Amino acid sequence: MTTLRTDRLLLRPFQLTDADDVYAYACDSEWGRYLPVPSPYEYRDAVEFVARSVLTSWDVNPAFAICLNGRCVGGINIRVDASRGTAEIGYSIAREHWGRGLVSEAAMAVMDWAFNEFGLAKITAMADLANTRSSRVMEKLGMRRDGVLRSERPSDADPGTRQDMVVYSVLRDEWRARTPA
Ligand SMILES: CC(C)(COP(=O)(O)OP(=O)(O)OC[C@H]1O[C@@H](n2cnc3c(N)ncnc32)[C@H](O)[C@@H]1OP(=O)(O)O)[C@@H](O)C(=O)NCCC(=O)NCCS
Repeated sequence: MTTLRTDRLLLRPFQLTDADDVYAYACDSEWGRYLPVPSPYEYRDAVEFVARSVLTSWDVNPAFAICLNGRCVGGINIRVDASRGTAEIGYSIAREHWGRGLVSEAAMAVMDWAFNEFGLAKITAMADLANTRSSRVMEKLGMRRDGVLRSERPSDADPGTRQDMVVYSVLRDEWRARTPA
């Protein structure tokens, strides 16, 4: 397992003791609006999320807690498909920290690490088409918009409706061209 440091953040594996911090930001319905999470979000959902993050194999789905000033304020995971040489990144952070460039900073470090660690050819990311903040993060990371998957999945936050998902990706050579090795 790995720990990464950026200018402002510590990115480390989740610990069972993170459940209180996770619940504190995840019980905010605005945080979960575009995410496949239960609504309302209960404390046991936080415990389950943290336990899953701890138990899931690091080789297949490394999940980092985003830590700021000693508290876990978000998470960033990368689901690896070794046979294809691809991975899908996912991220979130507490609402009080939105708009400070923290997720972009965290994702930059995790993607840099993952391209090397797993010898990836491509990293993708997916967001609800309406989640413009998330699309903006992907663009700032140098990802290109591949297209939109229409009516891709049922919305948890708005039962009876379905989500259109936008897909972004960056290839290994494109990533290398923008970040020195
Ligand atoms: C999406 C999310 C991860 C972004 O994290 P963040 O740390 O706020 O991201 P950043 O600060 O790096 O960038 C956000 C960008 O969105 C822009 N933005 C802010 N409000 C916006 C709005 N209403 N519409 C569009 N863009 C907006 C910001 O200006 C910033 O771009 P800029 O740096 O060019 O100015 C965060 O909002 C979040 O955790 N949301 C809840 C969970 C979630 O939706 N996760 C993504 C699932 S795919």
